[in-house]
Amino acid sequence: MTGVKHFLQFKDLSREEFDYLFERTRWIKAQFKAYRQYWPLIDRTLVMIFEKASTRTRLSFEAGMHQLGGSAIYLNTRDSQLGRGEPVEDAAQVISRMSDIVMIRTFEQEIIERFAANSRVPVINGLTNEYHPCQIMADIFTFIEHRGPIQGKTVAWIGDSNNVCNTWLQAAEILDFNVHVSTPPGYEVEPERAGLYGTDHFEQFADPMDAAKGADLVTTDVWTSMGFEAENEERLRDFADWQVDADMMRAANRDAVFMHCLPAHRGEEVAAEVIDGAQSVVWDEAENRLHVQKALMEYLLLGRVNP
Ligand code: CP
Ligand code: NVA
Repeated sequence: MTGVKHFLQFKDLSREEFDYLFERTRWIKAQFKAYRQYWPLIDRTLVMIFEKASTRTRLSFEAGMHQLGGSAIYLNTRDSQLGRGEPVEDAAQVISRMSDIVMIRTFEQEIIERFAANSRVPVINGLTNEYHPCQIMADIFTFIEHRGPIQGKTVAWIGDSNNVCNTWLQAAEILDFNVHVSTPPGYEVEPERAGLYGTDHFEQFADPMDAAKGADLVTTDVWTSMGFEAENEERLRDFADWQVDADMMRAANRDAVFMHCLPAHRGEEVAAEVIDGAQSVVWDEAENRLHVQKALMEYLLLGRVNP
């Protein structure tokens, strides 16, 4: 439906909106840390629809909505009519008449686009096969907290060119930083699927050590994303040389940080000494999902607010 603002992929918001949201996140996080009540969304209801598993996304949205004074309802495919073939358009009509905002984790991006087109209320992407925009909001906020502005910096993405990678690439175009990507042959970035405007903000490297050189942030993700489990054995073989280890971190800038959206597999995409080491900021990154999504829900429901 027209006139409703959604967050279905990173490029749905502008650089100016992200600047506002990161400032707002800082303020909302400070209230939380000081145990100050902030209830702008009193009486508002978030519906969360999960077609795939989750720990962080569910927890951060549910806790976040409660902390803003509202309520959250969890639906999954197994226990609702969504798993029994009710058209997504019909589900969107009904769910959006009974709630104020919806978060969806599903398979193809097309599903969430169809839902949003039939929703009276804002829809947030909580991960699709193509994108994970809330994750990259949290990652960039975490980078800013630790190292300052991300503009002009270099992010090294090592591993699968998946939903999280695609979202980093979109974010680089909007916020003007660079992404070095190294994937095994056959798993390269597909710019069209990633929804990119051009190729100015990323470079592909055959050797992951070359991708890590000059990076201010090194990041990776599981080799097999949800929905691709049938490829797991093959991927374990294909990705064996794409583990982020201490040598790779040494190739990056001295003050580079390490991020991982989690859940992680130590000994596969990342060595334990890296994710548990001094350069890793993964726990701050996970916590910041809560704070950025609170700012996002407030913005989609109330617009800009000046406390
Ligand atoms: N990073 C992330 O989205 O984690 P969950 O799958 O646990 O939600
Ligand atoms: N790329 C992973 C991210 C999980 C948070 C997946 O889609 O399974």
